[in-house]
Amino acid sequence: MNKIQSIRGMNDLLPVESSFWEHVEQVLARVAGLYGYQEIRTPIIEHTALFERSIGEATDIVEKEMYTFTDKGGDSLTMRPENTASVIRAGLEHGLFHHQNQKLWYLGPMFRHERPQKGRYRQFHQFGCEAIGWEGPQIDAELIQLTARLWKHLCLKGLVLEINTIGTSRERWVYREHLVKYFNTHIDQLDEDSRRRLISNPLRIFDSKVGTTQAVVTDAPQLQAFLSDESRKHFDAVCEQLVRDGIEYRINPRLVRGLDYYSLTVFEWVTDQLGAQNAVLAGGRYDGLVEQLGGKPTPGIGFAMGIERLLELVRLSGSATPAYRVQVYIINDNTSVAINMASALAEQVRDKGLNALVHFGAGSIKSQFKKADQSGADIAIVIGEDEVSSNLVTIKPLRTGQPQAQLPYSGEMSPELLSTLLKLTVQ
Ligand code: HAM
Repeated sequence: MNKIQSIRGMNDLLPVESSFWEHVEQVLARVAGLYGYQEIRTPIIEHTALFERSIGEATDIVEKEMYTFTDKGGDSLTMRPENTASVIRAGLEHGLFHHQNQKLWYLGPMFRHERPQKGRYRQFHQFGCEAIGWEGPQIDAELIQLTARLWKHLCLKGLVLEINTIGTSRERWVYREHLVKYFNTHIDQLDEDSRRRLISNPLRIFDSKVGTTQAVVTDAPQLQAFLSDESRKHFDAVCEQLVRDGIEYRINPRLVRGLDYYSLTVFEWVTDQLGAQNAVLAGGRYDGLVEQLGGKPTPGIGFAMGIERLLELVRLSGSATPAYRVQVYIINDNTSVAINMASALAEQVRDKGLNALVHFGAGSIKSQFKKADQSGADIAIVIGEDEVSSNLVTIKPLRTGQPQAQLPYSGEMSPELLSTLLKLTVQ
């Protein structure tokens, strides 16, 4: 019979990797906590309209990439392609934005039907932060400061911050009209896809890779010329604060982002270490989104990072430490007395906060030592015939080359045994 395989672009996370994920997840949650962000968890499936209304109907995500289906009750539902919309929906539904500001973080799987390749998956994971209710440029700078601290805590170097302002939706609307007029005068040189975008989403023409279109794009009007003084002041203040914070950035006037809800500040942290999928973290302001989803006008800003891409960077940097390591591996000769002794000792070791694996089943002492070594344990404790008859345990350090030692054990862990275990294991 054919074996059933996982779905293309959706990956299993095996124990050897999950421990690194756990480590990274702990760092992310800790750093977000340092800035006052609290966790929010929302459902993986939402009404399709939520994403259409927030991300935008003419975006690649909504047009081509959503996992949308009709459920048994006839509702159109979608597996979330991102989480900002859900966070705002949840906040509105539970009155979280009523006379209060919110700093929220989340971590979980997102789904996009993209062409899978290295760093681009159909199920991927995002860690994100959303700050809702703050107007001024300070929160933009603080949020970026948080992202810079993430790299520091994860010992990652070489990431570059790109930043831009895309003005308000009104400014973009005026700009869009000028842009359409300009592209219309050069319509013969535009490729077919760009002509289609001219109607649906003219700003996306900037992303075209076709030579003739690119030549037209080079002389196209720039959004910067249509920004109000207020928008420009906001952006300048963010940049000045970044300088004061010692965070280097590169202004990229071409950075527009692929989701419609953005306004003013947008930013991305990019790397040259991951090939084509170079954006590790991306975000920006979305001052109109709460209102668009039925709330009162409320400013917001946030970001999300791809955990798979982050982990690849962590792996390349060699700075990863797995969150889970075996500390104590208890070897025994498989007699009932030895197994009872091993199980009792393991529980006492766990009571002291160390983790312990007991070998169960047959196997020579030599082969058990091999398994202990493979497990990565700091020490092996041996309970064989000699140990049972003389109420002893043999402790053998596996990583340091220190000599083995024998200590008394008759059902209770002595202070001497405990202090030896603590000394020989990495906490
Ligand atoms: P996004 O740029 O669509 O923004 O995604 C953010 C990050 O998620 C990307 O920079 C990338 O690291 C990761 N990512 C996206 N698609 C994939 C994929 N198919 N495979 C692997 N990783 C991927 C958002 O999602 C916005 N919600 C960010 C945001 C939050 N803006 C404001 N608040």
